[in-house]
Amino acid sequence: MTQKKLAVIGGDGIGPEVVAEGLKVLEAVAGPDAFETTPYDLGAAHWQRTGEVLSDETMAELAAADVILLGAVGAAPGATDVPSGLLERGLLLKLRFAFDHYVNLRPSRLFPGVPTPLADSVVAGREVDFVVVREGTEGLYCGNGGTFRGGTPNEIGTEVSINTAYGVERVVRDAFERATRRRNKLTLVHKHNVLVYAGGLWRRIFESVAAEYPQVSTDYLHVDAATIFLATDPARFDVIVTDNLFGDILTDLAAAVTGGIGLAASGNINPTGAFPSMFEPVHGSAPDIAGQGVADPTATILSVALLLEHVGLLDEAARVEKAVLADISARTPGTKRSTTEVGDAIAAAV
Ligand code: NAD
Ligand code: IPM
Ligand code: MN
Repeated sequence: MTQKKLAVIGGDGIGPEVVAEGLKVLEAVAGPDAFETTPYDLGAAHWQRTGEVLSDETMAELAAADVILLGAVGAAPGATDVPSGLLERGLLLKLRFAFDHYVNLRPSRLFPGVPTPLADSVVAGREVDFVVVREGTEGLYCGNGGTFRGGTPNEIGTEVSINTAYGVERVVRDAFERATRRRNKLTLVHKHNVLVYAGGLWRRIFESVAAEYPQVSTDYLHVDAATIFLATDPARFDVIVTDNLFGDILTDLAAAVTGGIGLAASGNINPTGAFPSMFEPVHGSAPDIAGQGVADPTATILSVALLLEHVGLLDEAARVEKAVLADISARTPGTKRSTTEVGDAIAAAV
């Protein structure tokens, strides 16, 4: 097999802590030579030192990678001078947009034995296993807005959501394809009762693509109602497709009901292969626990499994998943293990 170029951005807060465990597992399962790993020191400290978030040179290097693993960027102890949004927009979203990561894939599975806030009656005998296909390059994340009359009592702030027929159709098609490889069920989540323009566009495109997939049963939920069903009947979902912001919010909730944010993995995928895809835990830099060695690295390790699958190392991906499943089923509620203990155990098991 040819060696893959892996760019690694640990980032801020718990990012580098969890990424170290992800890499440990990656090397244990794929061997030391499967990936040529290049670390990139980016994030709050880099900005504080250089005044730069992400240079053109670094962008060009990242573009030449086959795949990217990212921890998290954002708030961290010692980074209180970093304006909110600087790293999120200037680094994370810049990469998602520049590398056209239009499929933000966020699987949620309630593994056996994992504590969940869901009522017993909701989960007993039912399998909770769904994936959110979150659009990753449009919507309210485009930075299309402005502030006017700043410093006056009449200040105005706007953010206008961008939804293109091209962008909606390609992500909807991806979701239908995924549904055919799963349980043939796809739910569109939006809010077309209020967001009549963007919601109407999503609905029309969804319905016209659905006509090409008669084997996929479809339904629609307004996003507010979708949160009800995530808490009361998550087993009903197979694939959910939704826009960028709704997908962001739903996937934190999805994580919370399937064992917590410490388990939630994601892939920012460019399905055409024109740009490197990027894998990262759903969670952020968790400044409240950074530096304590207590962050759960499982979300990053499961993101490594998605990464392995993406580069075609299917057996290795399956071994990581299996080792994670065994590890989390054996966890004793109330017993705390350190970040490295969890990483070591999973690395030993793959
Ligand atoms: P967060 O996900 O960092 O933390 C939310 C809560 O979950 C915290 O209590 C945290 O301790 C806990 N948590 C998160 N990951 C955990 C893990 N692996 N193990 C155990 N507990 C974990 O969300 P936030 O507090 O809203 O954001 C903090 C910063 O991270 C912000 O600056 C935000 O913009 C940024 N952020 C970055 C990314 C990213 O880089 N992909 C994602 C989300 C948030
Ligand atoms: C996520 C994060 C990001 C998002 C932020 C940090 C820009 O919350 O990856 O879920 O909103 O997409
Ligand atoms: Mn989020």
